Amino acid sequence: MAPGPTRAGLTDVVRLFAIGVLPTLVQGACLRRSLGVRLTAALDTHAWGCRILDDLRERHGPGPVLVTAFGRTGLVLLSAEDVRRVLSETGVSFTTANREKIAALSHFEPDAVLITPGAAKAERRRFNEAAIDRCVAGPWFHEACRAAVEEEVRPLLAEGTLTWKRFRAAYQRIVRRIVFGDAARDDERITALRDELRSDGNWFMLHRKRHRLRTELFVRCRRYIDLPEPGGLARAVRATPATAEIKPVAQMQHWFFAFDAAPISDYLTLGLLACRPEQWARARADRAYLRACVLEAQRLWPTTLALVRDSTAETQWPGGWTLPAGAAVIACTPFFHRDVRRLPYADRFEPEVWLDGRAEAEWSIAPFSHGPARCLGKEIVLSTSAMLLTELLGRDWRTISSHRLGPGRPLPRTADHTSLRFMAGDRAVHG
Ligand code: HEM
Repeated sequence: MAPGPTRAGLTDVVRLFAIGVLPTLVQGACLRRSLGVRLTAALDTHAWGCRILDDLRERHGPGPVLVTAFGRTGLVLLSAEDVRRVLSETGVSFTTANREKIAALSHFEPDAVLITPGAAKAERRRFNEAAIDRCVAGPWFHEACRAAVEEEVRPLLAEGTLTWKRFRAAYQRIVRRIVFGDAARDDERITALRDELRSDGNWFMLHRKRHRLRTELFVRCRRYIDLPEPGGLARAVRATPATAEIKPVAQMQHWFFAFDAAPISDYLTLGLLACRPEQWARARADRAYLRACVLEAQRLWPTTLALVRDSTAETQWPGGWTLPAGAAVIACTPFFHRDVRRLPYADRFEPEVWLDGRAEAEWSIAPFSHGPARCLGKEIVLSTSAMLLTELLGRDWRTISSHRLGPGRPLPRTADHTSLRFMAGDRAVHG
């Protein structure tokens, strides 16, 4: 008999869908829904999803499992080695332009590098890299970011309580200033347009495309690039040569969208530190440690819940079987980031793993991905996050909501950032 892959049976397919996929759809794949976040956190759905994957690995071994559902074939990865292989072979045998990802993201960022198939991807990635590097290397950009962060955080520090709603609104102003320049500070319409289209993206191909809204979003974005003196990333876009095929405005939509994950992990970082006075003090004094804290929050609660590829060529797998082109390949980050069989620190807050090389050595720990499609915004995100948290840590925030973020017991696998609340107060009291 010809060797074949491990195939998920009907019961496993139903379990994977009900406990793995459904909660992600409830939370929202492109734009988090508060109610969905609260519900999935209350049920700790990621813990259930991880248990199913762990159970599959126990029964079948570490090789990937083939899942067929709704006429689509998907390969679910269960080993760190396979994650490394798929991420590093991106652009060779696998593409980031996965069919479902295109269906979701094309509502608001058609032509973005992440969902560009074929040869055009390399050209668009080069443009992204050149424009973003131009900013990262420019002292003017750091000064602009610092000013944006300090000015927008100041009103938060003046209040006695901190809620997600206020934090996110301030962060949106920071993101608009960094991406489009200071002129966009109060352009709430551009954020509303992006978020309306992202909420359409939550429905993948089931929602019709709203071309009028998308055009309005793109026109607004273009205006910031065409200003006599553009600011933020828009300034770098103007200065970076681009052919017609690159579509710089579409590339910027991805930056604008992706930045929205930073407030989630920064707010959770604040929650973790608020429960740990010693780590709080170290994070205040040591920028590298603070960045490690942000990365650790991203490890514990990754905002990109799955790294997904489509295969573009036949690939050979151990056991001698062949995966055809056109299959989806999925690495679930909450599972790999908290793999208790591999990581002794799986369910603990241990920023040190980002300082001593342990986390970087594991390709399956990939909040910003690895390999040829790794995130190009990582440095901007981490430096903005560190600036912002340094400002916020100037006050003694303690959690006043019933979140289990303290040390002493394993951290929950699913976090609800939306109802996390802080009060400025005594360092002696911690949640
Ligand atoms: C906390 C915030 C962010 C997180 C967690 C994040 C994470 C990621 C991840 C996981 C990927 C790779 C997806 C994959 O392998 O399939 C990615 C790709 C990318 N990110 Fe980010 N990102 C963030 C913010 C940003 C920002 C602010 C920018 C731009 C300024 C950016 C630019 C990009 C680009 C251009 C790609 C596409 C790379 C490619 O397909 O070649 N990201 N990001």
